Amino acid sequence: MKRRKFIKNTSLTGIGLAFGASALNCKQNKNEKQQPMTLTKDTLPKAICTWGFVKANAKAGAELTKGTNALDAAIAGVEVEEENLKNTTVGKGGAPDREGNVTLDACVMDSNGDCGAVVCVENITNVAALAKKVMEDTPHVMLAGEGAEEFAYSQGFKRENLLTDNSKKAWEEWKKSPKYKPIINIENHDTIGMLCIDKDGDIAGACTSSGLSYKMKGRVGDSPIIGSGLFIDNEIGGAVATGMGEEVMKTVGSFLIVELMRNGMSPQEACEEAVNRIVSKNDSYKDFQIAYIAINKSGEVGAYCIHKGFTYMKYEADKNENVAVDYFNKA
Ligand code: GLY
Repeated sequence: MKRRKFIKNTSLTGIGLAFGASALNCKQNKNEKQQPMTLTKDTLPKAICTWGFVKANAKAGAELTKGTNALDAAIAGVEVEEENLKNTTVGKGGAPDREGNVTLDACVMDSNGDCGAVVCVENITNVAALAKKVMEDTPHVMLAGEGAEEFAYSQGFKRENLLTDNSKKAWEEWKKSPKYKPIINIENHDTIGMLCIDKDGDIAGACTSSGLSYKMKGRVGDSPIIGSGLFIDNEIGGAVATGMGEEVMKTVGSFLIVELMRNGMSPQEACEEAVNRIVSKNDSYKDFQIAYIAINKSGEVGAYCIHKGFTYMKYEADKNENVAVDYFNKA
């Protein structure tokens, strides 16, 4: 039996899937006891994104409402922040590495399970759209650095200076006493990760970031790593991450959340378990933030983070709202 058919059949019947419940330490088939939410004209389409990116989420919602598919809507949404010069953690205007070079990371994943990614790209603003080009127009999943940049020009992307006067000034100030200490909830934003369900009920997502401010040259975070910064399985749901990418990568956080949902957890339970995996292994969690948002095939949404201050945007039934998220560190 083909993989997708097998998954569909087993999710419908509630039979345990590829992972045993005990192996994943989750509550077995808890959703079976709940009244499943039905996706109707009133609840579709949906867009959610990390942080309070009101305009980005509204853009995705508007695209979905006019019938754009989930992937293109997510890309159109995150582009709002890639082009926002005031956003110092995404796209043009993003903080540079410690050498003063702005390098961007992004990935996309669609409802067929196809994906594309670019890492450490300079001089290109719309890296989520570039990741889609990698997915569609190359035999590869990921392109890095100069190769990704050259590919971008071949596809008609324009060369832009991503270092704004303000980012340059902030970097020069940082260099006076350079410290490599992550700031929790930096200016209340970080990576933008977006998940959309379109009018057909299909799920896709995009994730884009300039990564940690003043990172080492060549450093790549979780945002372009399929399974870490973003993962989608159209039969189950999707998840995206924001925060300290190194910790997300060590636990393959977004893939973990989708697998936990496959095994019966709600999006909320799955996000909480993914955060617990990190804090239970890492005594230094007080020094960094990690946050996840997730959506399942029924349209239920979950979110959880380590520290107070993370919010997400939810577009549903023409309403675009900012939602405060529960957190682990209540000490
Ligand atoms: N989550 C963004 C990064 O660590 O690069």
